[in-house]
Order: sequence, then structure tokens, then C-alpha cells
Amino acid sequence: MTLKKNIIALRQKKAQVQMGGGKKAIEKQAAMGKMTARARILYLLDVNSFHEYDLFVEHEERNFGMDTKELAGDGVITGTGTINGAPVCIYAQDFTVMGGSLGLKHARKITKIMDHALKMKVPCIGINDSGGARIQEGIGALAGYGEIFYRNTMASGVIPQISVILGPCAGGAVYSPALTDFVFVVENISKMFITGPNVIETVLGEKISQEDLGGARVHAEITGNAHFYAQTEIECMNQIKELVNLLPHSNEKKAAKITPKKPTFGKNLENIIPADPKQPYDVREIIFALTDESKFLEVQELWAPNIVIGFGRMEGETVGFVANQPMYLAGVLDCDASDKAARFIRFCDAFNIPIITLEDMPGYLPGVDQEHAGVIRHGAKMLYAYSEATVPKITVILRKAYGGGYIAMNSRHLGADFMFAWPSAEIAVMGPEGAANIIFRKEIMEAEDQDAMRQQKVEEYIEKFANPFVAASKGYIDAVIEPKETRELILHGLEVSKNKDDYRPKKKHGVPPF
Ligand code: HXC
Repeated sequence: MTLKKNIIALRQKKAQVQMGGGKKAIEKQAAMGKMTARARILYLLDVNSFHEYDLFVEHEERNFGMDTKELAGDGVITGTGTINGAPVCIYAQDFTVMGGSLGLKHARKITKIMDHALKMKVPCIGINDSGGARIQEGIGALAGYGEIFYRNTMASGVIPQISVILGPCAGGAVYSPALTDFVFVVENISKMFITGPNVIETVLGEKISQEDLGGARVHAEITGNAHFYAQTEIECMNQIKELVNLLPHSNEKKAAKITPKKPTFGKNLENIIPADPKQPYDVREIIFALTDESKFLEVQELWAPNIVIGFGRMEGETVGFVANQPMYLAGVLDCDASDKAARFIRFCDAFNIPIITLEDMPGYLPGVDQEHAGVIRHGAKMLYAYSEATVPKITVILRKAYGGGYIAMNSRHLGADFMFAWPSAEIAVMGPEGAANIIFRKEIMEAEDQDAMRQQKVEEYIEKFANPFVAASKGYIDAVIEPKETRELILHGLEVSKNKDDYRPKKKHGVPPF
């Protein structure tokens, strides 16, 4: 054969394999509103930037009729490309090929591209659409997943790892995402569970829909497994692009700086917090007033909304925000809020992203439910994460900073580099009502008019402690500032922290309260 004929044969062979499980299977997926695995990659990456490898890899299983089965690309597409010019490694499982199930060769394609990402120090994106371990392959499939989980762990904190759930994902297809940094889900399309409904029905005799077992909203709102929720695959892909733009390629780099822009949010910072300390407000408005173009990419928006986490830019550089949200449960810290914030803090710290903490909360949530759910262990994660972080850490106390929450929200005592407080800050062991009832109990009980005495004592307490000046007089607060000075002082804090070098004792690794 001439080279020309060989080229034509190559093109035909490629076109055939690139059809995945065939026209019918593709149509079935399309009817469910799903893009093909290849279309997903091509939409996500810059035009003409995708280069595929291992297209002709074949499975080697011979049992259960597998000897006669041809599986295009063994059910997964792998390669490299760019997103807005930034290099990434990527894989996408193809549900049209045996339900995207994972056999050993399928797994080895994935581990090869993961190894590449780790060596080249670029983010790795996995698009998961898979029934999990390929049942016919038995131990080979389990080995394959084990090799993926191992690499997820090795890459953790070195390169950003992003998982996209775009189908009914079971078993290993959800455990690998759980080990990565960010999980994206799409309404009606994403399903995540350890064991599929068919197996549950067989083993437990229970009938349950895929959606109820683990649909997109379940994971975005209830379990916290998902970090980003979208209505459509296109919206999801655009969210991924936005996130990748904000992140560094690896832990050895800083996120790319872009042209600085001023905030565009219309409200004056002085008018966001209500005069009555019991009234709620949306802390995101404060974030909008601080970030370039007032842009903020919120992470885990629907889960544990009493704390807000996410990325923005200040003077063109990526920063991470952790902010109590007075709109939900008065911004109290509970088990989920602590888990949410602690993991985000560790991500920012691993990837050289400064952390800005905005504080307004009444402390940790008391009560039997939280105690039994392990608020001690979960709450400790935040103490650990902030204490351990060596990136620049700046806190602004907006209003309430009570009790353990005051310490947990990146206080000076956990290593904050700059502590600012607005004049509205109230820094105390607990809220004035609770405090007065305890420390002035005797006076209140003995008073003729107990209510009047209680009110008087509450006011005395507010006068004495519910302000930022006691903490400022001890040097725990560096400056009591006007709201309008906040952005300038944070920017200055970031500027002078550029060469921050924080000592940590030598150790193999810590033992955080996982
Ligand atoms: C082999 C599989 C498969 C699997 C699906 N298929 N999952 N083949 N191994 N794990 C095949 C189906 O046989 C079918 O083939 C095709 O993929 C499409 O599947 P359907 O069932 O028709 O699709 P759907 O109704 O949408 O249901 C999808 C599903 C269901 C919910 C994923 O297939 C399912 O419950 N699969 C089993 C899920 C599961 O429990 N996996 C756990 C594996 S254990 P045909 O030829 O008919 O088109 C695991 C352990 C890892 O992963 C380690 C964890 C720590």
C-alpha cells in the first residue's frame, strides 16, 4: 500500500472508532439531552486544541462473551488541549460503549493521562459517565480503579483536579471524583451513587429512582459532594472554563494575573449591614464590593449556605473568600459549614491563593443534633485548616465575632496576617443577651423589675465588650477601619505579603480531624 492509501485507511479506522458505541446508542443518549463524550471535550477545550491519544487501545478480557466484543477506545477518550490558552489533560468516559464501564485498559488510559498531567504540572479534568467497574472484568476493573484512586491522591495538592459528572455514575466512577478538588453536576443528567438502583433492588429489594438516590440537586444541596450545579451541559462547561481561568496550573505557580479592574457593584459598603444587629443581609454584596468587576465564582453555593466560599480577583489576582452568611441561620458555624470552609481553605493554601475572611457569626451551633453529628470533630477542621495555611490570610470582622467562631474564623491567634474590624464589630465570648443572663444572673433574679434589670445589664455588656476596641487595645485587631477603606487595606495587605515565608515544624504530614 502506498502512504496515501495508508492515510485513507487511518482516517477510516479513526472515524469508525470515533463513533463510539454507534449511531443508535448515540441517539439514545441525545434523547436524554446528553452530548457525546467527544462533543463534550471539543466544547470545553479551545477550538482545534484537542489532541487525542490511545484511540486504538483495546480491552483484553476474554470471559463472559467479551472475546467477541469490540469496544471503541475501550469506552474512554483521553488527550490534551487548552482552555483559554491554559494547558490541561482530559478524559471523557463514553456511555455509548458498554455504559462507560471501566475495565483495566480503560483505566490504564486514564492513569496514563493522569500521570502526564502530574508530570507536566497541568490541571486534569475527568468527565465521568460510567456504570463503574466493568462487571465482566472482575479484579481487573477493581485494580484499575485502585490505580486511579492512588493517582488522585498523589496529584492532590499538586495539580487542580476537576471532575464532571455527566450521566449515571456508580461505584468507582464517583469515588474518583470524591478524591478530586471540584465536582460539577447538571440537572437531570448527573447521578452519583456507590451502588446503582438495579443492584439495590436485587440485594435489598428496594425500588428507588436514580434521581432520588443521587441526582444533581441531592449532591449540590444535601450531601455536598458537588461543588458546581448547572441546568445544562453547556452552562456546566462554561462554569468549568471560568474556574480553570481562576486557578494556577499547579502548586508551583500562581494563578495568572489579568488586567486589574475596579468593582462595579453599585451599593456603598456602609449601606449593606442593617443598623439592627439581629437583621440579616447578603454577605455576597460585600464580596461584590471588593472584587474586580464585582465578579465572584461561588463554590458549593447550594450546600451549607450559612457559609460562603469562592474565588474572585483583586487587582487582577485570584483570591479565595470565606464569609459567614447572615442570611442563613445567622451565619452560624455547624458541621457542614465547617467541612465546606476547611476543605476550601486547604485548597487555597495548596495552590498559593490568598484567603480573605469576612466574619459575622454568632459562634458554633449549639444543641443535641449538632453535638451528635460531631460538631466538635467537624468544627476542629476549620481550626486546623486556618492554622496550617501559610498563604496570606486577611480577616475583616464586619459584625458579630462570638466565642469559638471568633477564634475559628481566621483570628490573629490562628495566624491571621492582618486583622481588620469595622466599627460595627462585636467581639465577645457570646451574644449580649446570653452573656448578661449568665454573669448578672443574681442581680437580675433579685431585681424588682427583672426585665428592666436584664435590659440594663445587656446594655452594660454591649458597652463593655460588644465592640472592636477591647480586642484592638490588646493588639488582636490591627486596625479598626471604615468600610470604604476595606478594599484598599486588603490590597495593601496582599501586596506586602507577597514574599510571605511562614515557618512550620518539619513533619511528614499532620493528622487533621478528618
Ligand atoms: C458492565 C455495564 C455496567 C457495569 C452498565 N453497564 N454498568 N456493563 N459493567 N458496571 C452496561 C449495561 O449492561 C448496558 O449494556 C449499558 O451499560 C447501559 O446500561 P443500562 O443499565 O442500560 O443503562 P441505565 O438504565 O441508564 O442504567 C445505568 C446504571 C446501571 C444505573 C449505571 O447500568 C447500573 O446500575 N449499573 C451497575 C452500577 C453499579 O452498581 N456499579 C458498581 C460497580 S462496583 P447493554 O449491552 O445492555 O447496552 C464498582 C467498584 C469500584 O465500581 C470500587 C469502589 C470503591
